[in-house]
Amino acid sequence: MGAENVGNCAAASSHGHTVCVTGAGGYIASWLVKLLLEKGYSVRGTVRNPDDEEKNAHLRALDGAAERLTLVRADLLDMESLAAAFRGCQGVFHAASPVTDDPEKMIEPAVEGTKNVITAAADDGGVRRVVFTSSIGTVYMGPHHAPGAEVDETCWSDLDYCKSTKNWYCYAKTVAEQAAWELARQRRLDLVVVNPSLVLGPLLQPSVNASTWHILKYLDGSVQTYADAVQAYVHVRDVADAHARVYEEPSACGRYLCAGRVLRRGEVCRILAKMFPEYPVPTECKGGAGETKKGCRLSSRRLAKLGVGITRRASACTKR
Ligand SMILES: NC(=O)c1ccc[n+]([C@@H]2O[C@H](COP(=O)([O-])OP(=O)(O)OC[C@H]3O[C@@H](n4cnc5c(N)ncnc54)[C@H](OP(=O)(O)O)[C@@H]3O)[C@@H](O)[C@H]2O)c1
Repeated sequence: MGAENVGNCAAASSHGHTVCVTGAGGYIASWLVKLLLEKGYSVRGTVRNPDDEEKNAHLRALDGAAERLTLVRADLLDMESLAAAFRGCQGVFHAASPVTDDPEKMIEPAVEGTKNVITAAADDGGVRRVVFTSSIGTVYMGPHHAPGAEVDETCWSDLDYCKSTKNWYCYAKTVAEQAAWELARQRRLDLVVVNPSLVLGPLLQPSVNASTWHILKYLDGSVQTYADAVQAYVHVRDVADAHARVYEEPSACGRYLCAGRVLRRGEVCRILAKMFPEYPVPTECKGGAGETKKGCRLSSRRLAKLGVGITRRASACTKR
């Protein structure tokens, strides 16, 4: 499993054809839909309720949307809805997933939903490449990565560690990505995976997503201290760019880490306090500990080789 064993990457032509984006109204997917429309693609976006005008207004307002964006109803746990959404598409971007640590809400849609996407895409026959939005949470979690060590696309998170630490998001994404690779191999489907770190940047959608809460919680008074933790961040535009690039580049294959700047939580809070002095940004580390945790380093070299510009390419990642 993993980048070196996949070797099934058919060329994807780059312009003017129809692609499907699952979970089109989500944070990352909205930026991806915007970029794909700008590039001239016809985009079919799956949403759970195409009739929800308020929730979908930001998509319908995108340049090119009136002519080249259609929104269709699909749920990850409803294979038929996915099959219908993919019909006539040459490419699929699978971005939809719950983003939560609640195992009841996370595991089934992430894992079974991803299997359904791969199966529906493979059954379709016309889909030439699937790009799956995974996470660095599938890569670095576990005691087997020494602090300071570099992790790359050959690394996998330790599922027992994810379970024992109740990190159900990383657990589900890891199982989902591994299942995706296995099914794609069996079905000879061209799959490429992007593994972003924590994604920040402007929101297109009307509601606040989980990674944006990561910052908002330091501004709205809901936390009084910050954790002794290190985190890799990446700009949402770089993430959208990475997805389009791995779709369009015929030689792209395997996994692509997508991680930019690394900051300790204390640094994040100091930057926020400077930018927004009127907000109650925490000034103390939880437990009063010094900021000592050291994460492993993430390399986005594979993406850089494809020409995707990410601010800083080798960086220390999260240790919560
Ligand atoms: N943001 C990050 O920092 C980050 C980092 C690494 C990887 N990722 C991955 O990137 C992807 C997008 O994340 P995001 O931050 O953009 O999250 P988001 O804004 O919460 O978007 C998630 C999307 O998934 C859809 N969805 C959830 N369950 C579904 C289901 N059962 N059927 C159909 N659609 C469903 C949601 O639809 P509704 O609007 O209807 O709920 C929403 O459109 C996820 O796969 C996530 O794991 C995110």
